[in-house]
Amino acid sequence: MKKVLGVVGVSLIGGAAFIFSGSYNVAATDEHWDITTKLLELVRDRSVHSASENIIVPELNDIEMISNGAKNYDAMCVQCHLAPGAPKTELNQALYPKPPTFHKNDDKHKHSPAETFWAIKNGFKMTGMPAWGEFHTEQQLWEMTAFLQELKGMSADRYFELVGEGGHSHKESSHDDTKNRGH
Ligand code: HEC
Repeated sequence: MKKVLGVVGVSLIGGAAFIFSGSYNVAATDEHWDITTKLLELVRDRSVHSASENIIVPELNDIEMISNGAKNYDAMCVQCHLAPGAPKTELNQALYPKPPTFHKNDDKHKHSPAETFWAIKNGFKMTGMPAWGEFHTEQQLWEMTAFLQELKGMSADRYFELVGEGGHSHKESSHDDTKNRGH
């Protein structure tokens, strides 16, 4: 027992010395070890999976929902996640972790609609992914979820057809100047 306490004590002191020495590099340019990335992704995926278990998914296969989702995606998400036919952005390239590019065929994003909805609504700590639920109704969040189901492999023509003249909708109370305004 004494030995165990000794080992724990030494590890704690070692850990504290490492933290206070400032030698851990927090720069976004200094990538995690592979094992750390895998572990963080596992924690995220298990957390999202468990948090979204009881979410009831509505009918998403509705063109008006998909098109409304495309408009909000175009207004709020492209800077980070890009879109078919849109140029690369500095945010997309410089954020770490890098935001997934959903329209690319090699995108690894494979969450269920409930998990996608949860991610959009709640965001992710320490990543730059905002919690959009703060300013959007459940309906608006489902519209973006419906659109994301369609985005993989989408052509630029189809994308611009869905976005149409654009437009940007929020919860009525969240901003006073954004209700269905063009961008
Ligand atoms: C400021 C940048 C930024 C903006 C703007 C942004 N995101 Fe994200 N998003 C991220 C980052 C970074 C991640 C990856 C987090 C990670 O690796 O855990 C992410 C992850 C996600 C995921 C989870 C993907 C997965 O495979 O786990 C979804 C879904 C998502 N974003 C949807 C959206 C939608 C919809 C919008 C617009 C309403 C949006 N994001 C706007 C940065 C952003």
